[in-house]
Amino acid sequence: MRKLKIIPVLLLLLACQKTTKEKAQMNEETLYRPLIHFTPKAHWMNDPNGMFYFNGKYHLYFQYYPGASVWGPMHWGHASSKDLIHWEEHPIALYPDEMGYIFSGSAVVDHKNTSGFGKDGKTPIVAIFTHHDMDKEIAEKIDVETQSIAFSLDEGMTWTKYEGNPVIENPAIRDFRDPKVFWDDEREQWVLILAAQQKVMLYTSPNLKDWTFSAHFGEKVGHHGGVWECPDLFPLPVNQGEEQKWVMLVSINPGGPNGGSATQYFIGDFDGKRFSLDPEFAAQLDNDNNYWVDFGRDNYAGVTWQNKTLDNGNKLFIGWMSNWQYAKVVPTEKWRSAMTVARELSLKHNENGYRLFSKIASQFNEVTGKKTQLENQNLGAKHKIIYENLAGLGALKLSFELNLEKEQSFEFQFKNDLGSHLDIGLDSTNNYFYIDRTASGAVDFEKEFGSRVSIAPRLGNEKILTGELIIDKTSIEVFWDGGRTVMTDIFFPTAPYTQIAVKGDNEIQIKQGKVTHLK
Ligand code: FRU
Repeated sequence: MRKLKIIPVLLLLLACQKTTKEKAQMNEETLYRPLIHFTPKAHWMNDPNGMFYFNGKYHLYFQYYPGASVWGPMHWGHASSKDLIHWEEHPIALYPDEMGYIFSGSAVVDHKNTSGFGKDGKTPIVAIFTHHDMDKEIAEKIDVETQSIAFSLDEGMTWTKYEGNPVIENPAIRDFRDPKVFWDDEREQWVLILAAQQKVMLYTSPNLKDWTFSAHFGEKVGHHGGVWECPDLFPLPVNQGEEQKWVMLVSINPGGPNGGSATQYFIGDFDGKRFSLDPEFAAQLDNDNNYWVDFGRDNYAGVTWQNKTLDNGNKLFIGWMSNWQYAKVVPTEKWRSAMTVARELSLKHNENGYRLFSKIASQFNEVTGKKTQLENQNLGAKHKIIYENLAGLGALKLSFELNLEKEQSFEFQFKNDLGSHLDIGLDSTNNYFYIDRTASGAVDFEKEFGSRVSIAPRLGNEKILTGELIIDKTSIEVFWDGGRTVMTDIFFPTAPYTQIAVKGDNEIQIKQGKVTHLK
């Protein structure tokens, strides 16, 4: 009898628990789910993978664990978009198998059917990825990672793994992963770059199946604070002109400029076999080894869209908006982490040498909602509210021009009623930009997260400072000086930010400013 009474009470308790969990997830959805950044509907995501463009669609695959919101046996999740903003998530593309987890890699459109995978006139899409053998990792073997391929004849929706895998055996290097492949038009060959411990290795192939090693790069060059991962190699026009240089991206973890993971870059030439640093860029590196795609703490493992070059010759890039330092414990439960906005990478050269620039992909100009012009005004030493939206800032773009006649510092502050705030600005005494998330909301889920301010050098000295930023509930991406210095950081306020305030010294003046809500 007694037992019978207890059971309904237990069931009721269980039901209550469920609704509390559901409620928490609801709050998480409204408070933390970004509006214009890609997140998986549920569970864990890290690196972007296999990005290609086909039939008017941008495809994005990603490191995915569908079993939980922490890293686990890696799959490739899949999403596609017509405009790089609205993403449709598709069924999982690649599952782990007896050869291992499916680690990061790339995908190419094999227009000439060099692989022979094409059938009935259908263009094969070929994915090249790392097989990571967990049993070997546990047994502390060296040959844990090999490179494999799979093909799709339905525009990337379903995949068949090649029966001859792996296509690149492990050459006795423990960290040997993240192949990025491109078609080298000049030499009519496929080129593959992968990360091997603290170097990259290049291979070439006529058919994506048979690969020949061609060169190493990276010894005693750049940063070596951690393992090298997710490299990329592509040409960009210099100053939008006729001249071209090759850009190599290399993610490293740890060893980033503000701790944890980040992505460095190199400028040079590629002769079909090897990459060599441009002599001027080599001298720049000797002088100041500080070349990062993004100086913030939350843009990692980013690479470019494989077969999409913009009309101006620039490339489209997307990164994982987190950091291995704390990615697994950030305070969302239903899903974990987002991608950055898609960005356009360009290369500029002036009297100070080469610099990679980033800007928000032009597609974002098409999704604008309510616009507010900010007044031309002088700022003072106290924060002054310049914009307010009591329903929450949601996703918005802030573009501004500031008059820096003298040595002037200034700060934008995003804040809520609870007293939490996120500050970004320029410290002109030390000539650096910063993002300060130390009081931004929930920060104590990990000891490093809110421990200090992220900083980045100001690389220009123009009197008019231009900037553009996107804030979207839990992330801020700031493009200073026309995209010369970029910073991306995530944060977790316990109530939405509703106000933007600004302060400055020496009568700094907002020349122009515009807040644009993004739909
Ligand atoms: C980078 C990385 C890659 C690897 C993948 C595993 O974030 O460590 O090197 O392929 O994540 O998920």
